[in-house]
Amino acid sequence: MNIAIAADHGGFEMKQKLINHYEKQGVSLVDLGTHSEESCDYPKIAHKMTDAILKKEFDMGILICGTGIGISIAANRVKGIRAAILYNEQVARLTREHNDANIAVFGGRMQSFDDVVKYFDIFRTTKFSEENRHCRRIGELDR
Ligand code: RB5
Repeated sequence: MNIAIAADHGGFEMKQKLINHYEKQGVSLVDLGTHSEESCDYPKIAHKMTDAILKKEFDMGILICGTGIGISIAANRVKGIRAAILYNEQVARLTREHNDANIAVFGGRMQSFDDVVKYFDIFRTTKFSEENRHCRRIGELDR
């Protein structure tokens, strides 16, 4: 599975920790930036990710800003993107099963590293249910 990760300055530290953590697990996260703690604009970071996801360069992505809010708003304005803020284990599972979410979002200044890893591990290993009602609703999102 190809996974990309991107963050603004508010999520930079969490992004670096996740890249290191998953590298040790043998899971490579492709880093789309930002590459320092210097202030940058989360919509631009979100769009780097959404462009890559829509081009099918990656199967899923992780986006991080300070709260998780700004970067998820930016990503979700793009047709075909379903970005979900993961705030508990059930949500991490259900957003894959029901929404076929293609981007996991975190608040780098709001969530602990351990929680982020726990939720993302559930997200990345859970498949979309492919039930008719969920396919229909996802289709409605893009109309
Ligand atoms: C940056 O200071 C902060 O506004 C940004 O990371 C994010 O939290 C916006 O929603």
